[in-house]
Amino acid sequence: MKTIIIHASQLVTCKGGVKYGKAMSDIGVIEDGAVVYDNGIIEFVGTTDEVLKKYSDIGSYEVINADGKVVMPGFVDSHTHFIFGGYRADEFSWRLKGDSYMSIMERGGGIASTMKATREASYAELYKEGVSRLDRMMTYGVTTVEGKSGYGLDCDTELRMLHVMRDLNKDHAIDIVPTFLGPHATPPEYKGRNMDFLKYNLEEVMPKVKEENLAEFADIFTEKNVFSIEESEYYLKGAKDLGFKLKVHADEMYDLGGAAMAARMGAHSADHLLMASDESIEALSKSNTIATLLPATAFSLGAEYARGRKMIDMGAAVAIASDYNPGSCHTCSIPLIIAISCIYMHLSIEEVITALTINGAAAVGRTDSIGSIEEGKKADIIILEKPSIHFLPYCTAMNIVETVIKDGIVVRG
Ligand code: NIG
Ligand code: FE
Repeated sequence: MKTIIIHASQLVTCKGGVKYGKAMSDIGVIEDGAVVYDNGIIEFVGTTDEVLKKYSDIGSYEVINADGKVVMPGFVDSHTHFIFGGYRADEFSWRLKGDSYMSIMERGGGIASTMKATREASYAELYKEGVSRLDRMMTYGVTTVEGKSGYGLDCDTELRMLHVMRDLNKDHAIDIVPTFLGPHATPPEYKGRNMDFLKYNLEEVMPKVKEENLAEFADIFTEKNVFSIEESEYYLKGAKDLGFKLKVHADEMYDLGGAAMAARMGAHSADHLLMASDESIEALSKSNTIATLLPATAFSLGAEYARGRKMIDMGAAVAIASDYNPGSCHTCSIPLIIAISCIYMHLSIEEVITALTINGAAAVGRTDSIGSIEEGKKADIIILEKPSIHFLPYCTAMNIVETVIKDGIVVRG
């Protein structure tokens, strides 16, 4: 059945594909806007007047009156690690007392501790937790989420994580874009043998992932004392040859030049970028690589924020995502990251909206189907309980998403 949403005080379209630099402010707002969709696909976008003229038989359609409300594209959370076993609340409490993320990791906590818990977790346990985490994300208006493996660090567990995401993608309303993150850390059995571990991933694990089509992207944690630039280049080249699109965890704790390397390798995105140098920012802004910022991670670690303002001013395409994971950032709160991005990274509300919609879609290679309200795209739409986008950061860290429509179906609200 056709659905018509009418009288949106602001219909935010975000139309026109991925946006670089200044263009991130162009979010295509239509006042008294309307949108028509049929069978989960958007058919027409315009003012309420235009729609009512074109669709004279409106009586036979489902009508949603969005008077006094913002209608906008569903959020794309383009960087998460939402499948994992166990929690690390103790580590968080140690960090509150002054311990650092890297020192906990070097003592065998951090990713290695989640690795143990995830290896021990059954498919059913991971699946069940996955459902409740996706349910929570949906309340914030997320309609597509990227999810990474990377807590197994062995073939069986990595495949189990990816199988869980494959099945959740079928069973849950939210779309999941799967990423292989075998080199998230070096597991104990490969201690001191990073290159052997990368070879193992490329030769034994990733061909299996490809065979079952379990991941679209390959990612690596390029970081001091984790994987070097040279190791990362070797892995990313191998991953590209196997047919994976690329992502990189870059310049999170130290500036290794990871962002520039990601741009050089033609990665879809370079993520984190807290410590990215001027040269790296310049390299990103001259490339098509999306600069994906994860401000809730910096917030949770008490670290400095990435220089998002400078990146946009230099002409880069910025996306913003949650990085939801059991360690560095245990929150998937979109309202929180909107607030931080506006208040501390000095992005405008329009830029933040672009970063969470069409540029998020670009970071997961899906600008043709999601990220904007445009004819031919999926009807992944959210309705806010307030009349203007200005309420997004103003309702600081409070959720104002009232209705979530996924593939044309109201899944919340
Ligand atoms: O993106 N930095 C590396 N990976 C994750 C954290 C993983 C963890 O702490 O479990 C991140 O922050
Ligand atoms: Fe991450």
